[in-house]
Amino acid sequence: MLEDAATKHMPLDWLRQNAPVFRDTSSGCFFLTRYADVRHLLTERHLKNSDLAEKGSFLDKAGRPVNPKRPHERDASMGYLDDPDHERIRRPIAQAFAKRFSICRPTVERIVAAHLDALATETVFDLVSAYSIPVPLKANALMIGVDEPDLDKFRDWTLDGFKMFQTERTDAETTAMNDAHEGFASYFERLIGERRGQPREDLVSDLLAAQASGVPITDQEIRSNCVSLIAASIMTTTDLISSTVWLLLHHPEELARLKDDPKLIGSAVEEALRVAPPVESEWRIMSRDLEIAGCPVHQGQVVAVSLLAANRDPSVFSDPHRFDISREQRPHVSFGGGEHICIGAPLGRLEAQLAVGAFFTRFPGATLAAPEALPKRRPTPYFPGLAELAIAVQR
Ligand code: HEM
Repeated sequence: MLEDAATKHMPLDWLRQNAPVFRDTSSGCFFLTRYADVRHLLTERHLKNSDLAEKGSFLDKAGRPVNPKRPHERDASMGYLDDPDHERIRRPIAQAFAKRFSICRPTVERIVAAHLDALATETVFDLVSAYSIPVPLKANALMIGVDEPDLDKFRDWTLDGFKMFQTERTDAETTAMNDAHEGFASYFERLIGERRGQPREDLVSDLLAAQASGVPITDQEIRSNCVSLIAASIMTTTDLISSTVWLLLHHPEELARLKDDPKLIGSAVEEALRVAPPVESEWRIMSRDLEIAGCPVHQGQVVAVSLLAANRDPSVFSDPHRFDISREQRPHVSFGGGEHICIGAPLGRLEAQLAVGAFFTRFPGATLAAPEALPKRRPTPYFPGLAELAIAVQR
């Protein structure tokens, strides 16, 4: 983010210039920071889940199951699969998702409006908890098939489950995290049984219909990927909503341009995605030996890529640290690339555009309640979204 220029971007800028293929000995993985290398690695066919993975690398260390009651639950999740299983599972989910996405707009608008109504009399509020979390949480969970009365439970599970990305946890947090993952799994187990008997207009029912028509996807694969869709879709979009609002309030001249021309909302969200990607890094396991920027990298070695550093590479983006909502070229890599490219990018974009656009229409006088304070971030290094954002509204 912009306020961190001195502490955060200087190291990334330094690495990009001086050590574009950096080997971190503590995690055992390479770290790429140049746009061209990042894009190339993401779009090539490498691996996500392979016995080839170098022993002692961060994959070994981070590979512990998050739900001890179902240690193999994550094995079926598309983000951790390679072909042919990845393609087999991703295709029907992508088809079901595309169908649901094509009709989701009125629901998202309704949820956005309801949350803005609820804030109508507030003069100071936390945008993250009151708006950025519940809007994508409700829209995405309902789209997948969660019953409306269960949304509060899903909110708790989502927040507790996300603790898997913290580098440190208390015992109580670990217990809550494990309970959340088991809660998700048993919930979807039950839901799959119910929807099989009584289908509804949701993604779970679509996947069961595909399964019944012969598409090779098991109940466990549907369940595991429903949990992944929840995990992948909510906090990412939450962070995009929060960071777009924060960046606009922090750059009044850009906000003024948006207010003059609300059609710039798509462009404002893309620029927020570029300068503050909700997912800052991705990784692949090398499928073969390769030379990256003159450095030999071997099959099985783990290579992490900094999406944040790539998005601010001056060889691609002029004045890269500047937040400019009318930039002409913005080929950011915030949704990754290649066969694992984010399946939900259109939804994340749409929800952020609707949520941020409607927010500034409803509250044109909104300001940061503590303009001088650095925003508080979550303790999740790869997803360091805003933990809270106090907003003041002039009435
Ligand atoms: C602003 C919001 C979002 C951002 C920034 C984001 C970012 C990403 C990134 C960086 C990846 C990894 C891509 C790679 O490895 O190359 C990814 C994968 C994924 N995302 Fe998103 N995401 C967002 C929203 C969503 C939504 C709304 C959904 C679902 C409805 C979703 C579902 C997924 C899934 C299932 C994957 C794994 C795809 C695969 O491995 O084949 N994401 N996302």
